[in-house]
Amino acid sequence: MMESATIKKGFDVYSIRRQFPVLSREVKGVPLVYFDNAATSQKPQLVIDALVNYYTHYNANVHRGIHTLAEEATLAMEKSRDAAQQFINAATREQIIFTRGTTEGINLVAYTWGRQNIKAGDEIILSSLEHHSNIVPWQILVEEKNAVVKVIPVNERGELVIEEYKKLLGPKTKLVAVNHASNALGTINPVKEIIEEAHKAGALVLIDGAQSAVHLDIDVQDLDCDFFALSSHKMYGPTGVGVLYGKKELLESMPPFQGGGEMIKEVTFAKTSYNDLPYKYEAGTPNIADIIAFKSAIDFMNGIGNENIRKHEDELLQYGTKKLKEIPGLRIIGEAKEKVSVLSFIVDKLHPQDIGILLDNKGIAGRTGHHCAQPLMDCYKIPGTVRASFAVYNTKDEIDELVIGLGKAIRMLS
Ligand SMILES: Cc1ncc(COP(=O)(O)O)c(C=O)c1O
Repeated sequence: MMESATIKKGFDVYSIRRQFPVLSREVKGVPLVYFDNAATSQKPQLVIDALVNYYTHYNANVHRGIHTLAEEATLAMEKSRDAAQQFINAATREQIIFTRGTTEGINLVAYTWGRQNIKAGDEIILSSLEHHSNIVPWQILVEEKNAVVKVIPVNERGELVIEEYKKLLGPKTKLVAVNHASNALGTINPVKEIIEEAHKAGALVLIDGAQSAVHLDIDVQDLDCDFFALSSHKMYGPTGVGVLYGKKELLESMPPFQGGGEMIKEVTFAKTSYNDLPYKYEAGTPNIADIIAFKSAIDFMNGIGNENIRKHEDELLQYGTKKLKEIPGLRIIGEAKEKVSVLSFIVDKLHPQDIGILLDNKGIAGRTGHHCAQPLMDCYKIPGTVRASFAVYNTKDEIDELVIGLGKAIRMLS
């Protein structure tokens, strides 16, 4: 089985696949086709080895020990911070806060900057494309502060209506929080323009990069965003690790998120002074093993190169879009001009859940439902979609399997 069309100079999808042990397993007696990458990607051996290596050879708590193991663990963890800094091109390593993931990064900003800065009547702009993780923390905040959430609408193709966004901006706008790429539809949002417009209005911008960091070049300085949140587990890294990037003056002026060890300089019962960045926001023992292995995931991506990843995934997206459109009764939801490799679709008269179950019977792992974007599903007046999301290790052959599986599922259910 060779796909000459997907093999570019220096890029061999089959040698990439061999680095992912899980991809060689069978599900329901047939080879696994894993198309649930927007939920979480699979992990290469490099990442698995980094976890095993840490626990086998130098498991120790970080920062507070002077013994060799503690020093090795601290060094490895801090190397991960450097790798993350370079990956998103942050100006300094102090701006890389390790979190549990995008959700925690967004909550951190809502609970610290938000609590400190949002007042009654202030406005926070979100978009119709947001994941619940970038909606609910702001709803909790505006409820507490008597502030207001405003929402950028989407057009039929699933693109944000930027003219409407500009109309929402005003003197009361304090924050714009939008995703870089939509998990439900794949739309890539014009975040540079969104940020520029927000800044003109005097508002800050938080970018939810959960879906973009694995597909696009991220340069937080070029974007000029105020905050950027991402999750390692969607980038071939372990679960339970994320990064929150923030502009230094903001991170310095915000209050801490959680109190505990590591985030302090000095504690007396009378008063506590807080640690310097980034530790001020990293209370307690961090997720050391997974943070260390996150660096291996970044190394893996850097090894392939963003350009190669993007090119391969674009080919899969174009191929998949064409093939799915040939299926009678199937409608793709979200046909933005700029998309990451996510295909969401519905089939006339059929429930996404039923399709998902039949696909699983053929070893195909997709995702069905509202994708944690219920307000977006409401815009389209649908309960949910079937979603196939592609990663660097997926192939056109697998898309062919999906098309065959869908054909059978539709015949069975109709
Ligand atoms: C766009 C978007 N934002 C936020 C999240 C939340 O990420 P996590 O669950 O890793 O915190 C997700 C996860 O699917 C997402 O797709």
